[in-house]
Amino acid sequence: KYNLHLKNTGQIIKVDPDNLPEAHDGLQGALLSLLLAAGVDVDHACGGVIACSTCHLYVNKGYDSAPPPIEAEEDQLDFAPAVNDHSRLACQCVPDGSQDVEVEIPAWNRNKVSEEH
Ligand code: FES
Repeated sequence: KYNLHLKNTGQIIKVDPDNLPEAHDGLQGALLSLLLAAGVDVDHACGGVIACSTCHLYVNKGYDSAPPPIEAEEDQLDFAPAVNDHSRLACQCVPDGSQDVEVEIPAWNRNKVSEEH
């Protein structure tokens, strides 16, 4: 079990890797599905199939607890603005629960997040 901390809102989501919410978009247990299940409206234009970069977010802490991005994810991240060393596509990043994770939704999605919380 680990805590998923959303830096933008201060929200802390408790995640049990043995009891994950059903993923409708992207990988089971990926950050996108965890955030959506907690009511955080993260953009995910392609529905979690690595065909956009709208689900881009920063994994500030716990980055190493998820398997590294596959090449297709790396390629999509090349199109995302303001990418840094902690950038991931939320629909593809599945933390293993060995560490707490802090994520931050980049600026262009931030208004949306703060309106809803
Ligand atoms: Fe399109 Fe994640 S939702 S790549």
